[in-house]
Amino acid sequence: MTSGQWWIVALSGQLAPGKTLAVVCDGREVALFRDANGTAFALEDRCPHRRVLLSPGQVRPGGLQCPYHGWTFDGASGRCTDIPNLRRDEKIPPAMAQAYPVGELNGFIHVYAGGAAVQGTLPGVSYRPAGREYTGSAVVPIAFDDYLDVMLDGPECLVDFPGVTITDFFLGDPRRDGRHLLLDRGAVWQGRGPGPAFVRDHPLLVRARVPLSGGDIVMALLDAAERPLVTLFIAATAGRRGTTSLVWRGFAHAHAHMGPPGWRLRRLAGAPPFTVRTALDGRAIAALVAAPSRERRTGAASGIDEEKECLHAQR
Ligand code: FES
Repeated sequence: MTSGQWWIVALSGQLAPGKTLAVVCDGREVALFRDANGTAFALEDRCPHRRVLLSPGQVRPGGLQCPYHGWTFDGASGRCTDIPNLRRDEKIPPAMAQAYPVGELNGFIHVYAGGAAVQGTLPGVSYRPAGREYTGSAVVPIAFDDYLDVMLDGPECLVDFPGVTITDFFLGDPRRDGRHLLLDRGAVWQGRGPGPAFVRDHPLLVRARVPLSGGDIVMALLDAAERPLVTLFIAATAGRRGTTSLVWRGFAHAHAHMGPPGWRLRRLAGAPPFTVRTALDGRAIAALVAAPSRERRTGAASGIDEEKECLHAQR
C-alpha cells in the first residue's frame, strides 16, 4: 500500500448521479457515490457502526445511507448526518466514515489514498483522446507490482494489438521520464515474417510508459517513424487478495489506416485496435525473465540518453 498518491479508480461514465460503485484503491475498499448534483465522493466501504459494506446503500441528500440500520454519512467529511428513528433527546454520535479526497477530471475519477496532505497531479490529466474511444474495466489475477513489471518484461502477456506481434527485442535500456520508465520494443505485422534482425529496423514499435510509483500506464503502438498508431491508457491499482484493478481508455490515431489489409478492415469495421488481456497465461508470465523491470523495482532507472541497440532473448 502506497502513501500519499492519487489513483484512478473508475471512469466518470461508470458512476451515474444517485448511484454507487464499489472499487478498490491501492488495496483499500472504497464506496464511490455521486450525488444528485453530479459530485462524486469516496468513503471507505465500511460503515463505522457495524462494519457492513456501504456501497450497496442508497444515495440520500445528506450523503450515503448505510443499507443496514440506515445511518447516513456525508461524502466530503464522512460525518454521520442522519440516524433514522432517533428520539428527540438523542444526538447523532460523532461516528465518522473514512472519507477520501476525490478528483474528477478528463473522464477519470481519482481518489487520494494515504497521507494527510493532498498533493500531486491527477494522473489522468495527461491522456488526450483523439478519435473513437474504446474503454473497459476489469480485475486481473495478478498482484499490482507484478502487473507493472510484466508490462515491461513481457507486455504481450497483458495487451494485444490485433494483427501485430510484439517481439522479445527491445531498444536500449529503460529510460527515465519523470516518475515513469519508457521502454521501446520491436513489433512486426503478423503474417509478414519474423521481421528484420535488428530491432531498430522493425516496422513497428511498442512503447511502454510504466510508473515507478502510481498506476498510470501508457502503451503506444508506433510506426517506424515513431508516429503513434494506437494509444492505450491503462490505470491500475492494487485490488483485493493479490489482484489488480484496471480501467482503460484507448483509440487509434487518424493515420492508423496504414498497415496490412486485415488491420485496415478491422478499423473500418470499428473493431477495437487493442485488447487488454483479462484471462492471463500464468505459465507464460512465470517464464518471463525479469530484465527491464529490475529498473522499476529499484527505482534506479539508468536514464540513458543515447540509444543503444540490444537484442535480448527473453525466453
Ligand atoms: S451497520 Fe451501518 S448503520 Fe448500522
